[in-house]
Amino acid sequence: MDILNVLPEATFAALDDLLTFISIYDDRARTRAYLRLLRAHRRTIAGAVCVDAGCGMGYFSEELVRLGARRVYAVEANPHLYALASERLAAYPEVVCVHQEIQQFEPEEPVDVLVHEFFGPLLYDEDLHVLEALRFRPRLVLPDRAVLMGGLAWTEQVADETVTPAVVRRLEGALVSGLFDEGDLPLQFPVVRWAFGQAEREVVCDLSGREGDLLYLGLQIYHGDRLICQAGRCPNWPYVWTPRMGDRFRLRFAPAERGAEVHFAWL
Ligand SMILES: C[S@@+](CC[C@H](N)C(=O)[O-])C[C@H]1O[C@@H](n2cnc3c(N)ncnc32)[C@H](O)[C@@H]1O
Repeated sequence: MDILNVLPEATFAALDDLLTFISIYDDRARTRAYLRLLRAHRRTIAGAVCVDAGCGMGYFSEELVRLGARRVYAVEANPHLYALASERLAAYPEVVCVHQEIQQFEPEEPVDVLVHEFFGPLLYDEDLHVLEALRFRPRLVLPDRAVLMGGLAWTEQVADETVTPAVVRRLEGALVSGLFDEGDLPLQFPVVRWAFGQAEREVVCDLSGREGDLLYLGLQIYHGDRLICQAGRCPNWPYVWTPRMGDRFRLRFAPAERGAEVHFAWL
């Protein structure tokens, strides 16, 4: 969904984010996986004070109430999503909807559980950095870690009539999401990691000894050892592709006003 007419910048940004973020609900596998994660922690959630950071439409807040949370702060920065979540959650007295950036939010009581989903297809390329600037310290963060994995394939194996090997060669230096179907291409090696409180925003990855002329990157979200969501299986996070131009590349993420900038270079 794209807005095609000229609008004042702030109006455009808020509506554009609204349209981007509601499209994640087309990915039912993602939402179901998160709800399963919450249910797996029902004992901790029952009676707890919870924060649903970037609550979107408020589905996770609703589930936290169902699981017996004593209070749920549903915090959302986007004015349209905040309004939609407030309508949806109005029936639950345990929920306090807050229209604020999560970095500015200062709850009046200690927080037991934080739930979030700020992951981009390249891990740090959406809003994950906001969790580094919280003004409160939750006892449990769901989920608590993620890895951007990499793999190598041969372009000839995955190319089709539209995205031919000649087209792929033109994409030097560009990280392109959804260029091909993931098929059963395995995620082979870790590239960048995130754990709550431990952000790794710049890496150099060495591909020496690995075969293939096409690099792909895909997200895996974990809680502890348990795999919650994976690129390809959850369409919200497609693989990201680029032609291989060497054995080493640098990937760097810089927080920006909206999301994060991604810097990528072959060394
Ligand atoms: C990927 S969506 C996830 C929505 C919801 N948690 C879910 O998974 O269904 C990320 C949400 O976080 C919100 N958001 C992004 N940055 C934020 C921030 N700094 N503070 C609060 N909300 C934020 C976005 O507007 C969006 O609704």
